[in-house]
Formats: sequence, structure tokens, C-alpha cells
Amino acid sequence: MRANSEAPKRARERIERLRREIERHDHAYYVLNAPTVPDAEYDRLFAELQALEAQHPELVTPDSPTQRVGGAPSSAFAEVVHTVPMLSIHTETDTSDNGAIAFDARIRRELQLGPDDPPVEYCAEMKFDGVALSLRYEHGVLVRGATRGNGMVGEDVTANVRTIRSIPLRLRAAPPLVEVRGEAIMLKRDFERLNERQAAAREKLFANPRNAAAGSLRQLDPAITARRPLHFFAYGVGAVQGWAMPPTHAQLLDALTELGVPVEPQRAVVHGAEGLVEFHRRIGARRAELPFEIDGVVYKVNRFDLQQRLGFVTREPRWAVAHKYPAQEAVTTLLDIEVQVGRTGALTPVARLAPVFVGGTTVANATLHNEDFIRERDIRIGDAVIVRRAGDVIPEIVGIVPERRPAGTRIFRMPTKCPACGSAVFREEGEKVARCTGGLVCPAQRKQALLHFAGRRAFDIEGLGEKLVDQLVDAGLVRTPADLFRLGLGTLANLERMAEKSAANVLAAIDKARHTTLERLIFALGIRHVGESTARDLAAHFGSLDRLMAADEAQLLEVPDVGPVVAASIVRFFAEPHNREAIEQLRAAGVTWQEGRPQRMRSLGALAGKTVVLTGTLPTLSRDEASELIRAAGGRTATSVSKKTDLVVAGEEAGSKLERARELGVPVIDEAELRRMLKG
Ligand code: IVH
Repeated sequence: MRANSEAPKRARERIERLRREIERHDHAYYVLNAPTVPDAEYDRLFAELQALEAQHPELVTPDSPTQRVGGAPSSAFAEVVHTVPMLSIHTETDTSDNGAIAFDARIRRELQLGPDDPPVEYCAEMKFDGVALSLRYEHGVLVRGATRGNGMVGEDVTANVRTIRSIPLRLRAAPPLVEVRGEAIMLKRDFERLNERQAAAREKLFANPRNAAAGSLRQLDPAITARRPLHFFAYGVGAVQGWAMPPTHAQLLDALTELGVPVEPQRAVVHGAEGLVEFHRRIGARRAELPFEIDGVVYKVNRFDLQQRLGFVTREPRWAVAHKYPAQEAVTTLLDIEVQVGRTGALTPVARLAPVFVGGTTVANATLHNEDFIRERDIRIGDAVIVRRAGDVIPEIVGIVPERRPAGTRIFRMPTKCPACGSAVFREEGEKVARCTGGLVCPAQRKQALLHFAGRRAFDIEGLGEKLVDQLVDAGLVRTPADLFRLGLGTLANLERMAEKSAANVLAAIDKARHTTLERLIFALGIRHVGESTARDLAAHFGSLDRLMAADEAQLLEVPDVGPVVAASIVRFFAEPHNREAIEQLRAAGVTWQEGRPQRMRSLGALAGKTVVLTGTLPTLSRDEASELIRAAGGRTATSVSKKTDLVVAGEEAGSKLERARELGVPVIDEAELRRMLKG
């Protein structure tokens, strides 16, 4: 081998600098949640380090940031004996203030404090709901990560621990030995994403973030753990050598922070029972919004000398206690599944439950989200189910207790007819939600449909807002849009808080709306996926409502920008007899609209048949003016850039649409160029 001492020296220095810089960025990103460099810059540094290490494999060390995912899958975890045992904490199950008061009283008694002695100082922390870990750092380098096991003997999960980005591979100082103790957790949002991925891959779902964290840490293949984002919070130390321990627990946590170890920042030093109670309440009020799950808080006597005096009872220290919150999950029986129709026509299966006390109240109903949710978890009527109620969120079923499935459970099926109006139920491909197609007539959707119908860009009935729609529907005066046009002055003026004058105004507005354009009418029907611009295209293309209603999917696909999803949605809407009936009633109520000849192809104009997207601020034209000019030249405007886009007109501060156009190779012009084209 040729010895080249110069190049390796320079490489070694560069590698060291890169590692330190990447560690700094990792710490800022994963521990402080405050990224210091853009991703691209980080990636560049990382790639440079990888390249250098590839050139000089002899310089690769296990604490290099490139080595987080490196370990090969193993067939079993080795045993680790904890020289300092990993203890458990006594749990105070009285979730009221008394839990804290009782603990403080006990500590005062044990320390033989009298009523005149000052309050005891405590360090209060959250009780993370995850998996306990012990991280062994020798001379500042992470050499081993172990689970708690039975407290005396755990499992060696080093390769998996290394994939947790908030765990430093190297401390910011190099004491001979520090074992960091803490909890590996999965954030709620990462847990939800993981379960979505699991469902898509038809893999087993996890019941809660703690199980997901445990399952991820116990993966024999660290590459899998790496794909399951875990976090870590330290709450203490195990064996320590050659490192000066501060005199209190709170200072210990600060010192760990200094070493670059993540410690949850909402910990507090508090005094006496009062301080504990206040902390328990304060964190409890925030519990639902926390990004991770906690099942309580932990109080620790702050001074280590006092901790020593208090000592242990078997495996539990006397100086610490876990004070719980009311459980957010409980098991009960699923009596039945009913289907509710929402304001937008979405059908939601709702669980009817044997009432159960959970999250501080009695729960008898809980959402089951959608059909897939039920199927993926094999939830059946009659099952023992886990109900969850966290904070103010709607109670939900999270799963079943398979071992407690009784005989004779029933499988749920989504109805094919809307339970509110009897119209057909449809579920679009790729959608989780089933919907009622009776938009115009479904009582569940009535208010929403009427508001949309009367909206500014539809029939534009001034004064017909949410309050009035509520009143009209609740009084049974209006059921479908046609009923609006049959309202009389007397009926309106009789409504609560409705003066004669405003009744007359609303009536005049309704009367004015009686005659409209075809595009507004089509938009007003509230057909799913048919927005203002599609309504305009449909009106121009077909010229009359009858022709539109008679069109099949193939004919609809001829309309610019109408794809299979939109076409199918239109066909479904008009196939629903209830909707056709509602349209007939509109005609009968004297509503008219301008119809014209179908304009199948606009062959005139400089932009005939072209789809144009506007982005950014143009120097002289407003959005509306530019769109108007484009339409007058036979073109049409769309709001997003796709392969179907022919032209993008960009002004100042054009952003992602401009980028997208460049990606797709769509021609981009400015206002001056547009004006030239329109002239030409
Ligand atoms: S202290 C001597 N602090 O709860 C006390 N534990 O039963 C050692 N836990 O398995 C633990 N959050 O994993 C401590 N802030 C916290 C904690 C915490 C969660 C877990 C820990 C342990 C269990 C105690």
C-alpha cells in the first residue's frame, strides 16, 4: 500500500469539520426544532462527507453522522446487564389534586419536616408514554443503547437507537462514562402517518404511539427503524464516572442539555404541594395539544442529598412519583354502527356504545371515520372496542380487543342509499369517504346546498346568509332551492328578527335572481368537482341545460379540462331522480336562464382552444381583466399548471406555478408578449 500521509491529514481535518458542522445542524433541527441551514445546504455537506469517507474508508468511525443506518439486521438482541438498575416509579392513581397533595405530605413526613419548615423543592416533568432507554456514552461517544427489560437486564438495541436523529452519536464533552436514561417516543403525527402507510401496505396497525415506538425499537433490521421516526427525551442518568454531578435533578437535566442531549423544555422547579398541583393542572390543560402522548407527570425531590436520605422501597425510589391523568382510552362494547350524513354529503359511520367513562366524561357515541377504517381494523358489531377521547376532540374507536370477541358479531356494510334522503351513495376511486349524491334534496346537506345556491358566484341572492337559511330550513319553509322562489312577504316578515323592510329586500333580491345565466345555474347546482370555471366551460360547450343533462361521459370528456372524475360526477348527479326533480321544480317556480347554441369548438381568436394559466402580478392588467381578454380570444384560463396547460403568463413574484411550468416545459410569457399575441 502506498503511504500518503499528506492527503489523509487534510481529508481527516475536513471530515472532522464536516462532522462537527452536521452534528450542529442535526442538534438544531432535531433537538431545538430550529433549523439553521436550508435542506439543500445540509444535503451538500452530508454528500461531501459521504464522498470523503468513501475515498478514505479507514477514516470512518461509528460516531460519524453517516453511520446512523449502517448496522446489518440481526437475528436476536444481546442481553445487557444494567450496572445501575433502571427503576420504576410509584404511580399515584388518584388523578385529582389529592395525588399531588398526598405525595408532598408523605415526603414531608419521611423527611420529618414540621409545619414551620419551608416547602420542599421538586423538579416536575412530563411522564412520556414511550419506551425507556439507557444510552451509554464512553468518552463522549455513544457505544450502546439498551431497553429497560426487567430493570436489571435489558436488550441491546444500539443499531436501532443510532437511527434516532435527536440522539447525539457524540456528546459535546467527553467524560469517561455517562449513561443517559430517558424515553423513546413517537410523535402523534408520525404515528398517524405510520399507520396510514401500514394500512396502504396491508400491514398490521399499531394501537397507539407507545406500541409503535416499542415495535420500531425491537426491529431486527435497523433500516426499518430508520423509516419510523422516533424521538428521545432524557430524564436522568445511570452509571456515571469522571463527570461532576450537580447537586439537584433540575441542574442535572440542564447539564445534559449542555451535552447536547434532548430534554423536554416544559419541566419546572416547583415548591410544595401547591406547586405540584399547579404543574399537574397546567400540563393537563395542554395535554391534548402536545405533539406526543403523556399519561401523567412525574414529581422528583430536586436535591440529590434529600433523594439519598429518602432512599428506595424495593425497585421504587421514595423521592419520585408519577401522578396520572384520567385515562384517554377505555374498553366497551360496540352495540351498533349507524351512518350519519354531514353537511357536505359525507357519510360517517358512528359507533353506538355501551356508555363508558373515558377522558373525564361518559361516552356513548364515537366516530369510526370511514368504511376502510372499520375494515382495516376488522371492527364488528358486538366487538369489545377501545374508545379514545383526548381533550376536546371527538371520541373515536381506535381498535378492538381481539381476545374478547364474542360469538355472533356482525360485519358492517356501508349503505348504498343515503339514510337521510334515499339518494344513491357513491364513493370515488381513491377516496376514503362515501357521499350522498342527492346534493339538492338531501335534508342533511340542505343548508349547505342552499347557501351555495344563493352565493355570490351562483344565484347571487343578497341577504340570504347563514342565519336566514337556518331559520327558513328549521321552520320547514324551504326544502329545495325552488322553494326560495315561492316565498311570500308575509311568511318572511313573520320570521323572528325580520323586519318588514328587510323581508321586502330579500324578496326583491330573490326576484332579481329569478333570471340568470346557464353557467351560474350549473355552478349553483353544487355538483361535486364542478367549480366556476368548469361550469363556464360546460355552459359554453353544451349551450343548454337539457343537452348537458343528456350528455354521457364520452361527450363530457370533450369539454376542455373535464377529466374522467368530473365527467363521472356530472353523470351521477343528473342520474339521481331526486336532483332532476329539483331542477324541474326550479323551472316550475319560474326560474329561467339564458341558453345558447353549443360552441363545441372555439375556432376563432388568437388563443382558440388554448389553456392559459396566470401567475404573479401583471404590470397593468388585473387577474379578471387578463382572464377576460384570454376568453375573448377563444382561450380559457385554469388555476393550476399541468401537462394540459398551453401557456403561462407570469408577472412579478410568480412562484410555484412558474416553477412547475418550467419543469413541464410549458411556454412562459409576460404581459407584453400576451398583448402582442392578442393583437396578432
Ligand atoms: S424517572 C427513578 N421520569 O416511567 C425513576 N421516568 O415507571 C426513574 N417515564 O420506565 C424513572 N417519563 O420509562 C422518569 N419524566 C420521567 C418519565 C419516566 C416516563 C417512564 C420510565 C419508566 C417509567 C417509570
